[in-house]
Amino acid sequence: MRTTSFDKRIILLLLASFFILFHLSAQTKSPRDKILINDGWRFFKYTTLSEADSLRYDVRPMVKDERDDKPADSRPTEAVKLERAGGVLKPWIMPTGNPFVKDPKKRHIRPPGNPGADFPFVQTNFDDSKWEQVQLPHDWAIRGPFQQGWNSEVGGGMGRLPSHGVAWYRKELDIPSSDDGKSIYLDVDGAMSYAMVWINGKLAGGWPYGYNSFRVNLTPYLVPGSSNQLAIRIDNPPSSSRWYPGGGLYRNVWLTKTSPVHVSHWGTFVKPREISKNSAVIDLDVTLENTYRSVADVEVNTKIYALNLKGERAPRPVANYKPLKLSLGSGRTLTTSGSVTINNPKLWGPLPEQNPNRYAAVTTVSMNGKIIDSYETIFGIRELRFDAKKGVFVNGQRIELKGVNQHHDLGSLGAAFNKRAAERQLELLREMGCNAIRMAHNPPAPELLALTDSMGFLVVNEIYDGWELKKTPLDFHLIFPDWHEQDLRAFIRRDRNHPSIIMWSFGNEVGEQYTGEQGAELARRLNTIVKEEDMSRPTTLSMNYAKAHMPLPGVADIISLNYQGEGIRNGAAYAGLKGINTQPVFPEFHSQYPDKVIVSSENAATLSSRGEYMFPIFKGNSSPVRGGQGGDSLRLQVSAYEIYTVDFGASPDKVFATMDKHPFVAGGFVWSGWDYLGEPSPYYLARSSYFGIIDLAGFKKDRFYLYQSRWKPEMPMAHILPHWNWPDRVGLTTPVHVFTSGDEAELFLNGKSQGRKKMARYEYRFRWDEVRYAPGELKVVSYKDGKKWAEETIKTTGGASQLQLSADRQSILCDGSDLSFITLQVTDKAGLMVPTANDNIRFSIQGPGEIVATDNGDPANFVSFLSHERKTFNGLCLVIVRGKKGQPGLLTITAESDTLKAHTITINSRQ
Ligand code: GAL
Repeated sequence: MRTTSFDKRIILLLLASFFILFHLSAQTKSPRDKILINDGWRFFKYTTLSEADSLRYDVRPMVKDERDDKPADSRPTEAVKLERAGGVLKPWIMPTGNPFVKDPKKRHIRPPGNPGADFPFVQTNFDDSKWEQVQLPHDWAIRGPFQQGWNSEVGGGMGRLPSHGVAWYRKELDIPSSDDGKSIYLDVDGAMSYAMVWINGKLAGGWPYGYNSFRVNLTPYLVPGSSNQLAIRIDNPPSSSRWYPGGGLYRNVWLTKTSPVHVSHWGTFVKPREISKNSAVIDLDVTLENTYRSVADVEVNTKIYALNLKGERAPRPVANYKPLKLSLGSGRTLTTSGSVTINNPKLWGPLPEQNPNRYAAVTTVSMNGKIIDSYETIFGIRELRFDAKKGVFVNGQRIELKGVNQHHDLGSLGAAFNKRAAERQLELLREMGCNAIRMAHNPPAPELLALTDSMGFLVVNEIYDGWELKKTPLDFHLIFPDWHEQDLRAFIRRDRNHPSIIMWSFGNEVGEQYTGEQGAELARRLNTIVKEEDMSRPTTLSMNYAKAHMPLPGVADIISLNYQGEGIRNGAAYAGLKGINTQPVFPEFHSQYPDKVIVSSENAATLSSRGEYMFPIFKGNSSPVRGGQGGDSLRLQVSAYEIYTVDFGASPDKVFATMDKHPFVAGGFVWSGWDYLGEPSPYYLARSSYFGIIDLAGFKKDRFYLYQSRWKPEMPMAHILPHWNWPDRVGLTTPVHVFTSGDEAELFLNGKSQGRKKMARYEYRFRWDEVRYAPGELKVVSYKDGKKWAEETIKTTGGASQLQLSADRQSILCDGSDLSFITLQVTDKAGLMVPTANDNIRFSIQGPGEIVATDNGDPANFVSFLSHERKTFNGLCLVIVRGKKGQPGLLTITAESDTLKAHTITINSRQ
């Protein structure tokens, strides 16, 4: 019998299908495995840059201007032009970004050859047993030591910690023979920075930008049925950041195993529309990839399940997409689309007004009736509306943005991501009434966005602090020309399904604000990329310099203003300071762009050290810090009266007044929610910032209550500052300020009224600036609408007598990651916290757990965060404890000092 060419095609197809099925049937039950590979890594870091190997990504310019204490609003400068150089590995790394390059002609072809193949660290038989054993997420720099002084290698700007340098991570991957035929990917949530990945001695790919997540295809290089050697080289440049970047594999790392035909990386996009209480249409794009050698005929199904507020899936789906049959050519990717209607959708919305309801879309890919891939997309259904006069509406309700800016570090835990630590940051912000976070100024850990989704925060997701022009000598501007498109598309594809994200910011105070039409042109290109990736959310970029009449502000959908809204260096106390100087610009932007929403994307930049008060105080409501005026440059501390700011900043009071005078502004984001490592303006000899409303250890500064009084007006509260332990000030003027959600207040010192005051318009605190100190009791009674509203009493305490430990959670999971944050207070005999106590405390732990870090929130403390011994800072200290993985039991934590009564608490570390 003769076979026609048609018959031959059929036979080939059948054979191919049989072959694929054969491989697929060898797979484990789950068609897709996403395996966390954080355990069992070996780590080695070169002591100095000069001894590092030469497997470099690219050449770098010489760093000349090393000082990192420039004001944040300094004008960015031209990038240094790099000479093209041979012997660099960039050409082998660029192809990793190809899925994010739109124009096929611009995609990169891997050159022949295999650089680094001879280098010992990438070899399977290299003996790394002397290397340090580490667990990811790992930040190599956080253990220190802190570098002190003006001439240190790393200055205050980057946190005085050794985050720069070249290091290697190695791990053996045991790939069973049943994985033969699968596609296997390395998924890195973040590597700081210039990661390059070798597997079995072959350079497989990498990604320079330290904050983006990326995938490297390991499949061509793996040998199933044996052990495979992974080696990752990280090269984190010095002088590369305006804050602490951390160093190394500081986020989760995964191995993803799929069938050769599968939903591609970040391959789904859920786009709810026509949203009402009664129904919502859910458009869904699914991108499939066929890495197999022949055509694949597949069927794609997606079901939508409601999740409860704990994130658990309902047993039955609420909607099914129509099955789609398609033929996918070998080596091809294809995007399919479908729509379903959900009746009575449970909408996602921010707390406390609404509920953060979520859904899961579960997409399955089948071939010949067998499921070969399954992919879950968590999403929310919410309708966003942006109104230039009224602000942001979620599901029809106006939501004022009560936001803060957050950097990525987790204080004493450094950049190493930890879900509980991030959740604690959000919990404290929520307690203050905060409902929105701006991710300043880089893509966050994916788990942080899962938290903002489940906890109901609104998010401005931001990617860049700079474009072509440089802020620090070796920052992102070096890779911007090669990578801006890939980074931008990858950023959006990863995060586009998060309901908490309400806008994309593609730049913060970029130097291109100063370059007129040329800068605007670049902004347009970036804006177009964002729009190509996601039409459903508005774009923005934050401007501290560009004015309404300039070309840049018109480019993005939303006008985001940093500091300009309330005016920069414009108050009397700021007269004559060098730098940007503007009156409040909200009105001029509003009239130039009557159809654009305006957001105050950064405001305040108020400075303070928790529990430090300096006298006399400034009589006005906002002042830059100067020696003798809010600041102590020897002790490196800033007064906590919460009226002192960086030179371009403003007190909360000044910001509130400006916002209230311009109600069309959609709300704002305070710089900053928490203190962070680096940028210790105004004292660059310190290690961490003074900007936070909450200090680095997680203790509330007085400012917390000022924001709470504004953001939770319905909650009766009053807060008095300063503390009342001033033995040296008897008879001296010691101003007392009160933050309350009431509108009237009366202060009593030892029962004697200091006067009852009404809050005037555009005032946000009560001040009794003439109080003369006498020890005893300060009490405030506040009123609202004439009725008693809240009361607060503080007392002069006795001397330090005992230690008191209290845990945020007394029961934690022994999963190797969960944490208990334990506060130590020094108290007097009556149990009152002694606000001036600075005692040395020794912590110890018994049971299956460990002390991970200690801190006290003092920006000028240089004791390693790993130390089990630490001084309290103004009465408080923090110890962070973790249970050993898989070893449940009781953890007993003891705090001791030479002179004070010790204290012990017990934490249950459970399975
Ligand atoms: C802004 C900048 C922030 C931070 C802040 C406080 O100008 O965007 O990243 O530096 O100032 O200094």
